Amino acid sequence: MFPRRCARAGLCLLFLSLSAGPALSAQSGLAYLGDELRALQADPFANPGLLWVDRGEALWHQAPPGGGSACASCHGPAETLAPLVPALPRWNSESRRLEHLEGLIRQCQTDQQGTAPAPYESEALLALTARLSFAARGRALSNQVAPEATEALARGKAFFYQQRGQLELSCADCHERYAGARLRGDRVSEGMINGFPIYRLTWQTLGSRHRMFRWCNEAVRAEPYAYGAEPYLELELYLRQRGAGLPVETPAVRR
Ligand code: HEC
Ligand code: HEC
Repeated sequence: MFPRRCARAGLCLLFLSLSAGPALSAQSGLAYLGDELRALQADPFANPGLLWVDRGEALWHQAPPGGGSACASCHGPAETLAPLVPALPRWNSESRRLEHLEGLIRQCQTDQQGTAPAPYESEALLALTARLSFAARGRALSNQVAPEATEALARGKAFFYQQRGQLELSCADCHERYAGARLRGDRVSEGMINGFPIYRLTWQTLGSRHRMFRWCNEAVRAEPYAYGAEPYLELELYLRQRGAGLPVETPAVRR
């Protein structure tokens, strides 16, 4: 069924070396890396993602232009927010919406610092996201979902299993059925989100979870959603629950 679809799209070659099905328990993308990238991720002097962590630490202590306070002057060390990270996205019962780390940072920039929020994928937002996620390294992704978010979770799961794009492939087609297979030089992983933001050699920079979702949508020629869009927040919630128990490994290095 998959070969027929990819034959139609002329992409069969991409899926030549199929291996066994998905692993029994959730595995980090780290488990699918070759030795070199694995070593690069583990090396505190060579992991390029750590540059953003350092920039994030500097920004955390820096007052924004225009007279607002630094993040640190209200929050203390970045580590104080570490317990929050593995439980995001989470349901906000006041706004009745999901919120993820990027959104919370941007909200604080607006409400508490009185500055314009850093754009998605900007150096500053990636650096702050990386710094706070780095503080949470080793903490397990939480499986807790507020009762009010049950429907959002179900929509996120439906998104994951829904075929889309000209190639009519779902996230699950690649990240469950074909986890372990080779695709354009990448080894397809289980699509876990515990290493974000990740440094991707393909991008030559750090990228957020939503950038990855957009990339994967575009890979099947589906229209991507905007950064921070509701369907991506729901997907992110589902992926957090799907990968519950995996340790935060930010900044992960990927091909
Ligand atoms: C055509 C196959 C394909 C489809 C469909 C696909 N992806 Fe991916 N995805 C990839 C490849 C290739 C990579 C890079 C190698 C890897 O990390 O798995 C990747 C990487 C990822 C990663 C990063 C994993 C890590 O450890 O850093 C996430 C998260 C992800 N995908 C989520 C999704 C989601 C969510 C969907 C559905 C919207 C999706 N993917 C659909 C091929 C696919
Ligand atoms: C003037 C004080 C102040 C400054 C400056 C500030 N924050 Fe906050 N921040 C808060 C308060 C207060 C809350 C809690 C808001 C609430 O719960 O409604 C908060 C909440 C947060 C949260 C969610 C925490 C949680 O546990 O729910 C994050 C993440 C965050 N801030 C990040 C930042 C970052 C990053 C900066 C700097 C760019 C920053 N904040 C600057 C006061 C501040």
